[in-house]
Amino acid sequence: MPAPLNYISLVRSRHSTRSYEQHVLTQEDRSDIGEAIASAVPLNSPHLLDWKLAEKAIMGSSAVLYAQCGSSVDELVEYGYQGEQIVLALHARQWGTCWYYQFRMPGSPCSITVGRPATPGLRSAFMKTLSHGDMRKPLERLVTNGIPQDSSPLVRTVLASARLAPSAMNRQPWSFEVVSDTEILIKGDANGFPDLGICLANAMVTARQLAGEATVSSVAQGMYHVAW
Ligand SMILES: Cc1cc2nc3c(=O)[nH]c(=O)nc-3n(C[C@H](O)[C@H](O)[C@H](O)COP(=O)(O)O)c2cc1C
Repeated sequence: MPAPLNYISLVRSRHSTRSYEQHVLTQEDRSDIGEAIASAVPLNSPHLLDWKLAEKAIMGSSAVLYAQCGSSVDELVEYGYQGEQIVLALHARQWGTCWYYQFRMPGSPCSITVGRPATPGLRSAFMKTLSHGDMRKPLERLVTNGIPQDSSPLVRTVLASARLAPSAMNRQPWSFEVVSDTEILIKGDANGFPDLGICLANAMVTARQLAGEATVSSVAQGMYHVAW
């Protein structure tokens, strides 16, 4: 049985990859990527979306991962939630990835490029600078009710992971509320992007790793309860 992934370290070491080695996917690669897809768990749906791999060299990638998805807030959140778990599982398998709204496959809100990372070239450095990829809003600004002095380290680690989630143009369109030592609220706007689901995935995999299990449930449109 494969060792469980250290999602906390994966969340912290993941960055968007925009330069790839020239590499045509082998059958073994495809099954490796297939295993990463199968490791994701859905949020509200009884099963995973039908994730597909298209052999497209966007920014030199080997392939593009995408699924058909509607444009409602719930559907976009589901897309981001599943997609980011796959991104982290791919990162664990040394695949580089980048979410792209600029390149969409028909019927999909955005794509995820996949390939073996290469030394970043000028174009990728430029794109990274344009999107301010290294900047994150400070946690103090994101936690609207403040982090209680006596909060458990677990709450802080879950919040830290949620803060590091990737988002379109690095907008980080979310805020957090600490409810207790075993639950937080995550609020955000979907605004046509799967960002909120991506943030929920980071929080869920971290809480699940630390506490053994975690639940994510919708409280209202754009507001989710994460408990462990
Ligand atoms: C939904 C989504 C769409 C994105 N679209 C693009 C894109 O079109 N082009 C691009 O260069 N980066 C895109 N990104 C990558 C973000 O710019 C990047 O995640 C953000 O700057 C944070 O950097 P990091 O992923 O290295 O932490 C997208 C990210 C997300 C989550």
